[in-house]
Amino acid sequence: MTDTPRGLLITLEGGEGAGKTTAQTFIHDWLVAEGRSVTTTREPGGTQLAEGIRDMLLDKRGDMAPPTELLLMFAARAENIAKIIEPALAKGHDVLCDRFTDASRAYQGAGRQLGLSSVDALAEWVHPTLRPDLTLLLDVPVAVGMERVGKRGAALNRFEMADVEFFERVRQGYLDQATREPDRFVVIDATQSIDTVQSKIKDALLELVVRRPHG
Ligand code: TMP
Repeated sequence: MTDTPRGLLITLEGGEGAGKTTAQTFIHDWLVAEGRSVTTTREPGGTQLAEGIRDMLLDKRGDMAPPTELLLMFAARAENIAKIIEPALAKGHDVLCDRFTDASRAYQGAGRQLGLSSVDALAEWVHPTLRPDLTLLLDVPVAVGMERVGKRGAALNRFEMADVEFFERVRQGYLDQATREPDRFVVIDATQSIDTVQSKIKDALLELVVRRPHG
């Protein structure tokens, strides 16, 4: 009996209004067209319990201390990893995750100013060996992202109601992380046309799949 090769973990990151939803559909369809099996999930969320935690985190009526926010993100993440991500990778599926631990580094570490060491300590405890194979960071200036979110017309969640300075720190937190881990991150200027963004995503996926062909 041969062991099933593990799938790839691909994470999608970016500030509000960066266009992650459109990108996620594109990536999913591209991988499937390549003949790969794909499991999609999101954070915070993915399982029933983690989606419940998401509701608490996003509820705009909630007033939450930053450490509570960070711990709830990791509580949801522990569920998502145990119930969805690890089982899918083990059976050879690629996992496409809309946000992962880099979001905690950017939003809680940088945005809420909790610092990277608390996030890294939790990451080391919750998923010591799990690291994305590729992280696509869709980068847009804060003003552009906020304008896109405003145009959606939907009610703002607790994060979307934060001030510009918070989002500037989040954006910088992401870019700093990309600088620290250039082998894992691909930063894409998401102010470009959808076609251009998708062609850059495709280039990154092609390189990854060539490097790690089994999925
Ligand atoms: P979404 O808008 O991409 O669905 O993400 C929900 C919000 O949760 C978004 O504003 C970013 C935030 N978030 C964090 O603050 N830390 C995290 O670790 C994750 C996964 C998301």
